[in-house]
Amino acid sequence: MDLFDVYPLYDITPVTASGVYITDDSGKKYLDLYGGHAVISIGHSHPSYVNSIKEQLDKIGFYSNSIVNPLQQKLSSKIKEVSGCEEYQLFLCNSGAEANENALKLASFHTGKSRVIAFRNSFHGRTSAAVVATDNEKIWAPINLQQEVSFVDLNDSEGFLKAMGQKDVCAVILEAIQGVGGLDEPSTEFYELIASKCREDDVVLIADEVQCGYGRSGKFFGFQHHGIQPDIISMAKGMGNGFPIGGILIHDRFKAVHGMLGTTFGGNHLACSAGLAVLEVIDGENLIKNAVELGKYFRDKAQEMAEVKNIKGRGLMLGLEFEFEVADLRKRLIYNRHIFTGSSKNKHVLRILPALNITKKEIDLFFKALKEELT
Ligand SMILES: Cc1ncc(COP(=O)(O)O)c(C=O)c1O
Repeated sequence: MDLFDVYPLYDITPVTASGVYITDDSGKKYLDLYGGHAVISIGHSHPSYVNSIKEQLDKIGFYSNSIVNPLQQKLSSKIKEVSGCEEYQLFLCNSGAEANENALKLASFHTGKSRVIAFRNSFHGRTSAAVVATDNEKIWAPINLQQEVSFVDLNDSEGFLKAMGQKDVCAVILEAIQGVGGLDEPSTEFYELIASKCREDDVVLIADEVQCGYGRSGKFFGFQHHGIQPDIISMAKGMGNGFPIGGILIHDRFKAVHGMLGTTFGGNHLACSAGLAVLEVIDGENLIKNAVELGKYFRDKAQEMAEVKNIKGRGLMLGLEFEFEVADLRKRLIYNRHIFTGSSKNKHVLRILPALNITKKEIDLFFKALKEELT
């Protein structure tokens, strides 16, 4: 049976991985500055992560959400401790799109309204409500178009207030740093305006932290750079270091009703053990501090290069902007230099999303290769 051919593939077959490196079936070793699309937070095959999942599998891997699973409570306590988000409840699911779908659904339940405000160049996932809040018409199917979404330019206060004026809005959803879109950010003033207007109009503010969360930006959540308190926070990618897990943090003023949200696989024993191991490593190995320091080191190196026109992002969620389109450079970095990097909607931006425990040695390696490819 053929695979449904929706992914353009690099002809590389990774078979093992460790830390910030992956090795293919011919024994070639690649430096992974892409993290499998911002997923690898604590490094590939981190020993405590591997042990935690193995040990859990020997006990119980899965049961449905109809029984008591103390690992879910343990995970929520650890998220509270490491993130500093005090007044929230946790709902667990399996992916970023599913997290946003549940966030949007909850916002609609809560307000009784249905219009969503999202931002130009956003990406929130491919499911029904999340996909139409994603600024990419090519991935909207006719069946998705029942959902009403108003798109506003990032940092366009007037446009935002105009869209809010319609009084039929259930949620505003935004990324603190746009990932797929190309590393643009709301200013603190703009984020503050959104938060205060949402509070005033009883509109639910959803922080999509699927990509910029979990320490990647140099704070646990990206919105924490702006001193904001969202109503719902969606998480996935870095949360499981590759194990499929997502979730939303829901402010305490939202009241749960049995049956309101649900999932078969979300919050299963294995996923929770993966999620707990990730947080223990982020916390125990000071990876957020490392993201700040190594992010700065990376920026300083990038600044020395005349070809780099702009450095975008924060922490270890970075973009190097060039005058030329980067698709070819990216290919050359992979095939000639054995270095994975990322792309974005902005074709001039090379995206850098390494594991949060990357060291100076690997950053030096990247810049040496980049310089050689550009001369
Ligand atoms: C900000 C953001 N939200 C949501 C998603 C969707 O996540 P998933 O692919 O796990 O459904 C992504 C994926 O790239 C993302 O970057």
